[in-house]
Amino acid sequence: MKKGKFGEYGGQYVNEILMPILIELEAAFEKHYPTAEFQEKLNGLLKDYAGRPTPLYYAKNFSKLVGCKVYLKREDLVCGGSHKLNNALGQALLTKEMGKTRMITETAAGQHGLATAMAGNVCGLETEVFMGVKDIKRQASNVKRIKLLGAKVTPVDIGMGVLKDAVSDTLRKWTTCSQTTHYLMGSTVGPHPYPEIVATFQSVIGKEIKEQILEKEGRLPDTIVACGSGGSNALGAFRPFINEKDVKLVFVEGGGESLEADNSAAAFKIGKPGILHGAVMQVLQDENGQIKPSRTRAAGLNYPGRGPEISFLVNSGRVKASYAFDKEVFEAVKVMCRTEGLIPALETAHAIVYMVNHKEEFDENELVVLNYSGRGDKDLETIMRYFHES
Ligand SMILES: Cc1ncc(COP(=O)(O)O)c(C=O)c1O
Repeated sequence: MKKGKFGEYGGQYVNEILMPILIELEAAFEKHYPTAEFQEKLNGLLKDYAGRPTPLYYAKNFSKLVGCKVYLKREDLVCGGSHKLNNALGQALLTKEMGKTRMITETAAGQHGLATAMAGNVCGLETEVFMGVKDIKRQASNVKRIKLLGAKVTPVDIGMGVLKDAVSDTLRKWTTCSQTTHYLMGSTVGPHPYPEIVATFQSVIGKEIKEQILEKEGRLPDTIVACGSGGSNALGAFRPFINEKDVKLVFVEGGGESLEADNSAAAFKIGKPGILHGAVMQVLQDENGQIKPSRTRAAGLNYPGRGPEISFLVNSGRVKASYAFDKEVFEAVKVMCRTEGLIPALETAHAIVYMVNHKEEFDENELVVLNYSGRGDKDLETIMRYFHES
């Protein structure tokens, strides 16, 4: 496959000012990532700072409910509360190698903004986080955390004030400061080499799953389920299994209120390839090719595109795409709370919905790994409001 392309998806469709910067980034990644020195620094931080390896937990009570053997890959236990730190630490180290002093990024659920602020401080880099005004409001606790860490939070009020708008604004800002500043992309989206870099840094999840499940069960799982929009936690879990053809891979997206709702993210089913933020991917768009906003209560799944590699894997049939509606997601939060005493992030709860809704697909001997991407502390107010209102 051509570099940076996943079938018809991916590529580099950016302002020409950014081309030399992307070339510099790709060269830095290829030069430093494979070295023993870089690996030692990264693995040291992943282990002693982030808390890796994360456990693979046999969720006995939840398994009973869904009728098969489910293990949770506990990315909620990564310091900061989600998988986002795996990638942030890697890119922060790369920023140092490139001799840059600042990082900018965007965030929706706030988890990636928090991870970037943490990685920035650890590596001695200044950090600025762009965040849609709507997300600032609904993920207030993470905004407080990011500010406490000393990062600047810049509100984005263009468009609908959500993730897509924050990415657009960060890319725009980057064209004015790329000599000194690295854009720390938070998911497997954007122009090449970002999807490759982010998936590589997140693949630590899947590598650990492989080792842990072999140790616990003596065989590979039958199915791995992960939520996503851009796809970073899903690809992190899937990548080491893509060539293991007997392992089913399921990607669960935000369905919003209902399939009929015009802005349902599940409309990716009827989405078409389009260019978004510098890459071709499956994009939610109207008949004139204008991007349609997605609407889901999970801020972190509110991206109107399915990242290039996930788009390719779904189209080629290797990954099954599914979706969960908001109402089911809130109920799934309750199920996980009551069965295992764990409060999942709203994003993570999408993967839980898949298990609850597809019991007939699994028999009792089926081995499933659910990538438990994050904890729900950030969503507490939204969750309590939902149950209070309904
Ligand atoms: C806990 C959690 N899970 C999943 C996601 C979705 O992102 P991705 O598709 O890159 O894994 C987010 C995004 O913020 C998140 O915070």
